[in-house]
Amino acid sequence: MSKNTQLEENTEAKPFKRSRLVFEPSLGVLGFSLLGLCLVWSFFYFDYRTVAAKSYNLSDKSERFVWLKLENKNNKSDVIGSNRVGFLEESGDGCDVFDGDWVWDESYPLYQSKDCSFLDEGFRCSEFGRSDLFYTHWRWQPRHCNLPRFDAKLMLEKLRNKRLVFVGDSIGRNQWESLLCLLSSAVKNESSVYEVNGSPITKHTGYLVFRFENYNCTVEYYRSPFLVPQTRPPKRSANKVKTTLKLDTMDWTSSKWRDADVLVLSTGHWWNYGKTVRTGCYFQEGEEVKLKMSVDDAYKRAMETVMKWIQTEVDSDKTQVFFRTYAPVHFRGGDWRTGGACHMETLPEIGTSSLVSSETWQQLKILGDALSHYSNRSETVEVNVLNITVMSAQRKDGHPSVYYLGSRGPAPLHRQDCSHWCLPGVPDTWNELMYALFMKQGKKQIVQEMSQCRDP
Ligand SMILES: *[C@@H]1O[C@H](CO)[C@@H](O)[C@H](O)[C@H]1NC(C)=O
Ligand SMILES: *[C@@H]1O[C@H](CO)[C@@H](O)[C@H](O)[C@H]1NC(C)=O
Ligand SMILES: *[C@@H]1O[C@H](CO)[C@@H](O)[C@H](O)[C@H]1NC(C)=O
Ligand SMILES: *[C@@H]1O[C@H](CO)[C@@H](O)[C@H](O)[C@H]1NC(C)=O
Ligand SMILES: *[C@@H]1O[C@H](CO)[C@@H](O)[C@H](O)[C@H]1NC(C)=O
Ligand SMILES: *[C@@H]1O[C@H](CO)[C@@H](O)[C@H](O)[C@H]1NC(C)=O
Repeated sequence: MSKNTQLEENTEAKPFKRSRLVFEPSLGVLGFSLLGLCLVWSFFYFDYRTVAAKSYNLSDKSERFVWLKLENKNNKSDVIGSNRVGFLEESGDGCDVFDGDWVWDESYPLYQSKDCSFLDEGFRCSEFGRSDLFYTHWRWQPRHCNLPRFDAKLMLEKLRNKRLVFVGDSIGRNQWESLLCLLSSAVKNESSVYEVNGSPITKHTGYLVFRFENYNCTVEYYRSPFLVPQTRPPKRSANKVKTTLKLDTMDWTSSKWRDADVLVLSTGHWWNYGKTVRTGCYFQEGEEVKLKMSVDDAYKRAMETVMKWIQTEVDSDKTQVFFRTYAPVHFRGGDWRTGGACHMETLPEIGTSSLVSSETWQQLKILGDALSHYSNRSETVEVNVLNITVMSAQRKDGHPSVYYLGSRGPAPLHRQDCSHWCLPGVPDTWNELMYALFMKQGKKQIVQEMSQCRDP
C-alpha cells in the first residue's frame, strides 16, 4: 500500500465548526516569522503556567516554588507528581487515567523517528520538513495519579511468548507503529526484530506481523477499518448497491486474531456517509440490505456485534481486550480533499473538552452503550477502553499536515493530512496508557493467583 492509499484513508470532512484564523505560511517574510516565534514562545509559557497552576491547584507561593523547581529540567517529573499516587499502586485503583492534562516534559519524546526503521514515511514528520518540535515534548498527566514511565524491556518481558494484535484502520496502524518504535528502542540487535514474511512496512496484504526474536513475541497489525466485513451485495440488490457492510458478522480475519494475548481494537474514521453510502456501500443485516439505515444506526449495530463477539468468542483467561475510542481529526476550513488545514499549528489547546464535535460525542455514546450492555454481568470479558478522544482533541498540533510525502517533499497546502499523527507523538501516549492498564492487569492477576493459592 503506497502513500497514496494512506491519503485515501484520510477521513472525510469532519471539520471543526469553530471558525478561526488560519495562518498561511508566508515564505521569506523573516520579520514576520520572528514575531511569530516570539508569540509562539510567549503563548507557550502562558499555556505552561496556566496548566501548572490549573492542574495542581497551587497557591501563589507554592506555584512560584514549583515554577522554580520545574526549571530544574532533569528532575521536574519527580516534582510534578510528588503528591499523587502511582496508578500501579493499590491506592491508584479507580484512578481515571484519561482525565488529565498535557504537560511539558523535556524528557520526551521516548524515541527519535530516525532510530526507528518501522515507521511509514507519512509519520516521520520532523525528518521530512516539519521543523517545530514542541509537539514531541508533551506528556499526559492524569489528574489524580501518576502513570508509570514506559519501560520497553519490562513490557517485552511481559509479552514473552505472546501475541499483541492491533485491528483497525490506518489510525490503528499509526498506533501500532508507535508501539513498534517504543518497544524496539530496548532491543540492541536491530535485525532481531523483523516482519515474519519479509514484507516492508508500507506494503501489506491486509496484515503485518513483527517478531521480536529474543522475546518470542509478535506485535501484529490487521487492517479492518469497520471491524465488520465489507462484501459483495446479495444477488438482486438494487444497482446502486456496490458493496455492503455485514453488520451482524465479525470481520472474516477475526479467526486469525481471536486468540491473541493482547487485542487492541479500534474503528471510527470510516463510519461516515462519505466512506459508505456515497460510495455505494450500504448496510446489510442477514440477507437484507437496509437502504434507509443511517450511518449512526449501522455503527451502533456493528459495535453491538463486536461486543457480543468479544463476550462469546474471546477467552478472557487468555486475552486482554482493549478498545481505543475515536481519534479526532483537525481539518479546518474543509476536509483533506478540499483544502482543510492544520498546518502551522504548533501548540495544543489544553484543558478543555469542548473541542470534541457533536458527531464524535454521539459516536462515543453509542460505543459506551454497546459496552455497558455487558458491564453488569458477572461473567463477562472485561474490555479496557482506551478513552483517548478528549485528550487527542486537544492536540491539533500533532498531525503531519503537509509533511507526509517523505522525500517527495511537502504536499500542497490544499492536500493536508490532519487525521494521522506524527511519530513520535500523540499515539505514543495512547500506548503509554495501554501500557499502564496492561501492567495494572498483570498486577491484579498476580494478586488473584496469590489469593487462590492461599485458599484451602
Ligand atoms: C483548589 O483549592 C481550593 C482551596 O484551596 C479548593 O476549595 C478547591 O476544591 C480545589 N480545587 C481542586 C480542583 O482541587
Ligand atoms: C530527583 O529528585 C529526587 C528527590 O526528589 C532525588 O531522589 C533524585 O535523585 C533526583 N533525580 C535526579 C535525576 O536528579
Ligand atoms: C513461542 O511462543 C509460542 C506462543 O506464541 C509458543 O507456542 C512457543 O512454544 C514459544 N517458543 C519458545 C521457543 O518458547
Ligand atoms: C542479530 O539478530 C540476527 C537475526 O536473528 C542474528 O542473525 C544475528 O546473529 C544477531 N546479532 C547479534 C550480534 O547477536
Ligand atoms: C470517554 O470519556 C468521555 C469524557 O470523559 C466520557 O463522556 C465517555 O463516557 C467515555 N466513554 C467511554 C466508553 O468510557
Ligand atoms: C446496571 O446495574 C445498575 C445498578 O444495578 C442499573 O442502574 C443499570 O441500569 C444497569 N445497566 C444495564 C445496562 O443494565
